[in-house]
Amino acid sequence: MSDYRPLAIVTGASTGIGFALAKCCAEEGIDLLIAANERAIEYAAAELRQADVEVEAVKCDLAEEQGVEKLYAAARGRPVDMLFANAGHGLGDAFLDQSFDQARHVIDTNITGTIYLIQKVGRDMRERRRGRILITGSIAGFIPGTYSAVYNGTKAFIDSFSHALRAELQDTGVTVTCLMPGATDTDFFKRAGMMDTRVVQQDKDGPAGVARTGFDAMMRGQDEVVSGWTNKIQSVVARAAPAGLLAELHRKQAEPGSAKNK
Ligand SMILES: NC(=O)c1ccc[n+]([C@@H]2O[C@H](COP(=O)([O-])OP(=O)(O)OC[C@H]3O[C@@H](n4cnc5c(N)ncnc54)[C@H](OP(=O)(O)O)[C@@H]3O)[C@@H](O)[C@H]2O)c1
Repeated sequence: MSDYRPLAIVTGASTGIGFALAKCCAEEGIDLLIAANERAIEYAAAELRQADVEVEAVKCDLAEEQGVEKLYAAARGRPVDMLFANAGHGLGDAFLDQSFDQARHVIDTNITGTIYLIQKVGRDMRERRRGRILITGSIAGFIPGTYSAVYNGTKAFIDSFSHALRAELQDTGVTVTCLMPGATDTDFFKRAGMMDTRVVQQDKDGPAGVARTGFDAMMRGQDEVVSGWTNKIQSVVARAAPAGLLAELHRKQAEPGSAKNK
């Protein structure tokens, strides 16, 4: 029997969908290199080590090039079999009322840092002609995000980028899968400052189920997966509906103070 142990990098693994993705890996006997920006990543690592796998935690800001490089260096040249490019955050409120630094941090985390890490790890995978990449996009990428304009824009980028990269890597032995969750019960909305919006009151999927859907789709080498039936229907409608209508519908969900008006 081979004693080869695969290694996965999971970004944004301290909480939510990323932690659940890391748990899927641990349950499958996959060693882990996990990253997030706060100390909670250490607690996540301690919990994941309860499975019989090696877990290393890296605390780094993935919005910064140095943060991505610190994470990449932590693999110390060990081949990465799977990359879960999942770290991301949102930002509520009207664009003109947002802090530009915060808006830029959303872009730098969700887009710039994400694709920088994918490029570094992806080059190694292509060289070895082997690897799986799961990118956490969102069904938000289909919907102009009134009161969440920058965030939804980043996810439109990521959804599109994921399909293009997959096509470029055809026949290289490296697969790219885009996980597109809908509203999921994580720290996301609190962190985005959206606790007074109607979207917070709607039923949400659990992060464990969303992560399992993404993990299984990646293992099958699927191009994309929308988690949950309601979200699947919503994504079909969103792909066909006029952008102006979608932007108005999003306003009702994400307008600051809309929670009170339900
Ligand atoms: N929840 C939803 O409704 C939903 C729906 C569709 C897609 N998504 C996507 O799913 C992914 C995971 O979000 P979640 O819902 O699980 O939210 P979450 O519970 O807030 O988790 C976000 C994770 O990303 C990390 N992170 C954020 N910015 C980072 C940065 N600059 N550097 C390093 N780590 C960073 C956070 O760590 P720190 O706390 O240490 O920063 C945390 O581990 C995101 O890409 C999000 O856009 C979420």
